[in-house]
Amino acid sequence: MENKELVKKAFEAMFNAYAPYSEYKVGAALLTKSGRIFTGCNIENAAYSPTVCAERTALFKAVSEGETAFVKIAVCGGKGGKPTDYFYPCGVCRQVMAEFCAADFEIITAKTPDDFQVCVLGDMLPFAFSPEKIK
Ligand code: THU
Repeated sequence: MENKELVKKAFEAMFNAYAPYSEYKVGAALLTKSGRIFTGCNIENAAYSPTVCAERTALFKAVSEGETAFVKIAVCGGKGGKPTDYFYPCGVCRQVMAEFCAADFEIITAKTPDDFQVCVLGDMLPFAFSPEKIK
């Protein structure tokens, strides 16, 4: 799967974001090692703290369907669903990625469907607290 195709799916997912409080819409598209794609959007809540990010929606959808091995994730977001810059996942989502993914897991940060950068989890969350630490 080309990065560009995954980014396009992240943009499509962004339009389903439920973000009536922040109005900041985020979309994610996750590719599994088995070749499946799981998309996600942020889902806010009137009580605020139950809000879940787009990346975790995608990851949890995948894990709940038996997928725990991932290749890469594309993410985009912006106020009103109009990104103005590259989107970088929050710390909590990086930590959830570190539960399942190695340092070479690719995070595609998109600004537009044609303008994106590729980072790796190891650079975004160095010295991660990973499952191996508590074995
Ligand atoms: N958000 C995400 O979906 N992913 C992130 O990595 C950071 C933030 C969402 C949560 C909230 O609905 C909105 O963006 C503003 O913080």
